[in-house]
Amino acid sequence: MRAIEQEIRELVTKLDAWSLAYHRDDNPIASDAEYDRALRLLRELEAENPHLLSPTSPTQRVGDKPLSEFQSVVHKMPMLSLDNAFSGEDLKAFEERNAAKLNLSKLAFCCEPKLDGVALSLVYEKGILVRAASRGDGSVGEDITHNARTIATVPLQLSINQPPPVLEVRGEVVIPRAEFAKMNERLIERGESVFQNPRNAAAGSLRQLDPRITAKRPLVFMAYSVGYSEEAQLPESHRETLNYLNELGFKTSDLIELAEGWEAAEAYVARILERRDAIGVDIDGVVVKIDSYDQQNAVGFVARAPRWAIARKFPAQEEVTRLIDVDFQVGRTGAVTPVARLEPVFVGGVTVSNATLHNADEIARLDVRVGDEVIVRRAGDVIPQIVRALADRRSEPLPKIMYPIHCPDCHSVLTRDLDEAAVRCENASGCPAQQKAALEHFVSRKAMDIDGVGEKLLHQLFDAGLIKNAADLYSLDLDTLANLERMGAKSAKKALSAIDTSKKTELPRFIYALGIREVGEATARNLSTYFGSLELLSKASRDALEAVDDVGPVVAARIHHFFNYEPNTVLVERLLDAGLHWESASNDATGDGILSDQTWVVTGKLESMSRDEAGSLIRRHGGQTAGSVSKKTDVLLAGPGAGSKLSKAQSLGITIIDEAGFLALIGEVPL
Ligand code: IVH
Repeated sequence: MRAIEQEIRELVTKLDAWSLAYHRDDNPIASDAEYDRALRLLRELEAENPHLLSPTSPTQRVGDKPLSEFQSVVHKMPMLSLDNAFSGEDLKAFEERNAAKLNLSKLAFCCEPKLDGVALSLVYEKGILVRAASRGDGSVGEDITHNARTIATVPLQLSINQPPPVLEVRGEVVIPRAEFAKMNERLIERGESVFQNPRNAAAGSLRQLDPRITAKRPLVFMAYSVGYSEEAQLPESHRETLNYLNELGFKTSDLIELAEGWEAAEAYVARILERRDAIGVDIDGVVVKIDSYDQQNAVGFVARAPRWAIARKFPAQEEVTRLIDVDFQVGRTGAVTPVARLEPVFVGGVTVSNATLHNADEIARLDVRVGDEVIVRRAGDVIPQIVRALADRRSEPLPKIMYPIHCPDCHSVLTRDLDEAAVRCENASGCPAQQKAALEHFVSRKAMDIDGVGEKLLHQLFDAGLIKNAADLYSLDLDTLANLERMGAKSAKKALSAIDTSKKTELPRFIYALGIREVGEATARNLSTYFGSLELLSKASRDALEAVDDVGPVVAARIHHFFNYEPNTVLVERLLDAGLHWESASNDATGDGILSDQTWVVTGKLESMSRDEAGSLIRRHGGQTAGSVSKKTDVLLAGPGAGSKLSKAQSLGITIIDEAGFLALIGEVPL
């Protein structure tokens, strides 16, 4: 075999193993950077040797061109549904009917979570994924191969030496709740409408004609059975089959257990129900299956469901209650959000009396009115939501909910940008609600992490006029704190010492704590890596800011505005004067200045570092960096995959250098 072919093969094997460890086993064995580096290298080798590109290469998950329509797929074996059980009694009856048929007194069951997602069928021919289809009506589904390929937990190739000619694997596509919440936050930030629950989001993501959209969604495939197969040497029980699927490369639930008899199965149900909120994905019950395939075959099917399995359903995570009022709350960035006050209702394991309504668009979309009966949903630790208003149950016409015109707290006039869903109070420095929320953000765990100074204490201090902003926290003294109502000397000391401890911090935390709009934790980290110091960040032009990962024109403008608005610069200075400090990144301007007076732009994929790291190196050597190529650009550092920036630089006659040239220039040996 030629050396390149061998190298590609080894890279694919390595990347597949890393991906399985990460996605299937939740047990990473390589760093993200290592993975990205190897993937980049593979992509380059494949680009240079297109004849060696295999459709099962890990580079082939990005999402191909959009389709114009879906094709139908006939399932070789229908995808059935399940009968429901709502109590232990129902499970007992399920065991009794089957045991009687089998002339047994007790049965062995395989119990597993019933994942609340979307069913997916994957067909492998000679170990290679050839077709993915939705369930459809059970007999005919839609071909969604282009989308399934983008899901990291869908193996493109089975990890087995002699794969069966045909093997169909079935399972559920889900979106973990934490990812779902992040996804909706991003949609809200962009003023788009939110998904009602992870299942709808998963279904919507799989139903895309454009796989590039699907590729961006945090979908996870969990296998739960084998469908149609030819000449596959399957084990004799369902439990063993799940292990086999795991070995082939599929993620399976790690909560699967065997149970002897219905009582043991019901005990499993109770344990899972107890942990429902702690499990990262929505589950709507437990599936109890007769474990032995011989026994399954002997009892068979009725109509559209197997006799050998049953869905023991959990209490609903959606309930009906009444909307009694809507309050408007002012957040840290001035966004005014509506909060629904509900008649208390027990749903998803807790009593819910508040739900978020997100924004004006959401109220309009739901067309919900105070007095309406509504469906509320609460799953896991996600904030309860109103899913739907039951408008046809209105006995009299109800008035529409009006958004306030004035800030409920400081009474200044509210504004709404044309391209934004949020309605805002712009009185950032004079609105008590915003100031309090900004303080809460500043002390929060991911920001300055000032343990011992909670919401209550902050409000107390603020209302007493003892603090107005974060810098004031650092001039509090023991007497002032100890004299507050309901505050002992001990808690005062504790709070003071927590404030003091927080002075030694890290740059990303500090940037995040400033509460710049749309600068979350990740962006704060990128900014810190890129600029290396607060000074460079605060002086950066919008153009320079846009060169940072995840920073577009809007965020760049927000950051730029933040550091050029005097009250903010005063605040930052006071914080620094109070003694806040962090270890400066090694890439602070300590270099040799070999690039001074030069403006650089970085584009394309780099091999030994990210673009942000390259930017830090340039600045460390005295250069400046910008996000776009213009006449002012001196040098373009271009890696593979460079596009419009490269052509523009060429047309302007700008010096272009590659990564190796760059490393040589600054005297670093390439990796
Ligand atoms: S077994 C015989 N196992 O529930 C067909 N199904 O109501 C049953 N589901 O559409 C398939 N988790 O998509 C099975 N652990 C699990 C499941 C599961 C979720 C879904 C499945 C099916 C529906 C049946």
